[in-house]
Amino acid sequence: MTMTDTAADRLGSASSGNALELRGVTKLFGALAALTDINLTVRPGERRAVLGSNGAGKTTLFNCVTGDFLPTNGSIRLFGEDVTSFPPQERIRRGLRRTYQISLLFGGLSVIDNVYLACRGVSRGRFSMLRPRRNDTLMARAAELIEAVHMTPLKDTMVRNLAYGQQRQLEIALALSGAPRLILFDEPAAGLSPTERSELIAILMGLPGHIGYIIIEHDMDVALRVATSVSMMHNGRIFKEGSPEEIENDPEVQELYLGGGHG
Ligand SMILES: Nc1ncnc2c1ncn2[C@@H]1O[C@H](COP(=O)(O)OP(=O)(O)OP(=O)(O)O)[C@@H](O)[C@H]1O
Ligand SMILES: [Mg+2]
Repeated sequence: MTMTDTAADRLGSASSGNALELRGVTKLFGALAALTDINLTVRPGERRAVLGSNGAGKTTLFNCVTGDFLPTNGSIRLFGEDVTSFPPQERIRRGLRRTYQISLLFGGLSVIDNVYLACRGVSRGRFSMLRPRRNDTLMARAAELIEAVHMTPLKDTMVRNLAYGQQRQLEIALALSGAPRLILFDEPAAGLSPTERSELIAILMGLPGHIGYIIIEHDMDVALRVATSVSMMHNGRIFKEGSPEEIENDPEVQELYLGGGHG
């Protein structure tokens, strides 16, 4: 099933000034079509969940948006600008961020030092042997971001001593450094305990309203709570879009995802 005109209008594809616009994006890996003719519009500040079974193409979609992969066909606009052939760094400069499943944290530094370094825009390679020389404005900013991810009591804890879920929270703080306008979260709830999941939901819901995000999530409880719109993927295609309520009540979706013990 494709999106109706009404749904497209409601989801903002008719308006200009979108955060993200994918038109006809296809990604082939040899003979395998990981993405086929993807059309996706995300408005500034929108919170979109992307749901779908394993291998549906969700992470490939993220990789095309970040520039880690070039699409085989189609175009990608970021905040009105055609970035289809831009390298990842140019997209980051325009306010795009992502979180990875693999941790990119400095285990031997404290929580605050990790966030401070992200605020300074220091890359892993350039940093390696240096101790940061502190700048008060950036330290204050780092403290704010740590508060945004509910980690103030842990700010002086060494990252390697954090629990897994706390490390994931810290990664969100890193994604918030700089001036992000659109963040891509790839399965942020994976491996989290029920308590950590609730914390994650609170953190995402508490992000400043101008920051939009796309969240890939297998946990429907998390996805439908933190999203304002949902895209359903299967076999490299988006087959349905709607509000969390529409998706939750959709018979086809219920059969696919909410039945059979996945609820
Ligand atoms: N770099 C790659 N080279 C070849 N095939 C790939 C590559 N990345 C992904 N694929 C294939 O593309 C398809 C979509 O994969 P993708 O990782 O995007 O799925 P996904 O929806 O993120 O799945 P999951 O829920 O398991 O993370 C899969 O068939 C996968 O094997
Ligand atoms: Mg994936």
